[in-house]
Amino acid sequence: MSKPAIRVAVTGAAGQIGYALLPRIASGQMFGPDQPVALNLIEIPAEKAMAALQGVAMELEDCSFPLLHEMVLTSDIATGFKDCDWALLVGSKPRGPGMERNDLITENGSIFVGQGKAINAHAAKDCRTVVVGNPCNTNCLIAMHNAPDVPQANFSAMTRLDENRAKAQLAGKAGSHHTDVTTMTIWGNHSATQYPDFENAKIGGRPGREAIDDRDWLEGDFIKTVQQRGAAIIKARGLSSAFSAANALIDHVRDLRTPTPAGETHSVAVCSDGSYGVPAGLISSFPVTADGSGQWTIVPDLPISDFARQRIDASVAELQQERSLIEKLLG
Ligand code: NAD
Ligand code: LMR
Repeated sequence: MSKPAIRVAVTGAAGQIGYALLPRIASGQMFGPDQPVALNLIEIPAEKAMAALQGVAMELEDCSFPLLHEMVLTSDIATGFKDCDWALLVGSKPRGPGMERNDLITENGSIFVGQGKAINAHAAKDCRTVVVGNPCNTNCLIAMHNAPDVPQANFSAMTRLDENRAKAQLAGKAGSHHTDVTTMTIWGNHSATQYPDFENAKIGGRPGREAIDDRDWLEGDFIKTVQQRGAAIIKARGLSSAFSAANALIDHVRDLRTPTPAGETHSVAVCSDGSYGVPAGLISSFPVTADGSGQWTIVPDLPISDFARQRIDASVAELQQERSLIEKLLG
């Protein structure tokens, strides 16, 4: 007998990321090849958005995915989050050229008040929420505060795209394959202040700074390339990253549900418990492992150099500043 379906709510389902994400969820790449899924597809009520959503749903139907059991198309968030096991909060405005992600905070922040409340009221009891819409750390903070009955550990924001980008850069420089790069932690904010930690990363099992004997590159071009990758894609495409973001969300959810292999960690922005000097309550990116039962843990006791400390502190200061701008949305 097949398993009961996992119900997945996706906001911004007719957007760029939604278009790249939905077929991958429906074909089993997020929850596994024997796990049926039901999709609650949420868009804004504008006629154009709902028409586009109908088109996306037609395409999903036309794929005849064996694992896709049901679709609900709606602009009503109470309906959209009803009984969902996972809430993937993608829907929000992307930045354009020349903007920083936190320039979106006023426009996008308020979206996550209503969505947090709707998740609190209507989602399944143990619903997990992942925020992708930018600025994703602070939007996640807003959603979490507006869902006081949901455990804080059920909220995360996505820095996996940054981890994947950092792995690709290190592998390219070392002449390795990106699968050789492990324990690649992004610390802090999904922003231009994030710190990709080359000191704790490993390449082919060796410390990153031994495998790449070029400290100037690691401290300079490497960090800058990862921090600025989103902007570089916007400059090149005229649109922000989409299928790489969808791919990172597949990785993020799959790896929160799967026991993390020994020797590996993943970057997830979660509610700080004060680890590594990050003030408790901020949504900040950490190295995380999962145990396969839905629980995750911040990896303790990694060495943090003075160089790393300064950069983590700078990113955390930015998160605190973002928080101060949206304090009134925290309920
Ligand atoms: P997009 O403009 O193509 O699509 C966004 C969709 O969201 C649109 O269809 C829009 O109608 C919908 N939407 C807006 N407000 C909504 C609401 N309140 N409820 C439901 N739907 C709503 O944008 P995109 O390229 O898909 O990007 C979406 C977001 O993801 C942006 O904020 C972008 O900056 C962010 N992003 C984050 C990462 C990351 O790594 N965390 C990576 C890429 C993009
Ligand atoms: C990214 O990192 O590609 C996204 O956050 C989009 C952006 O605004 O950079």
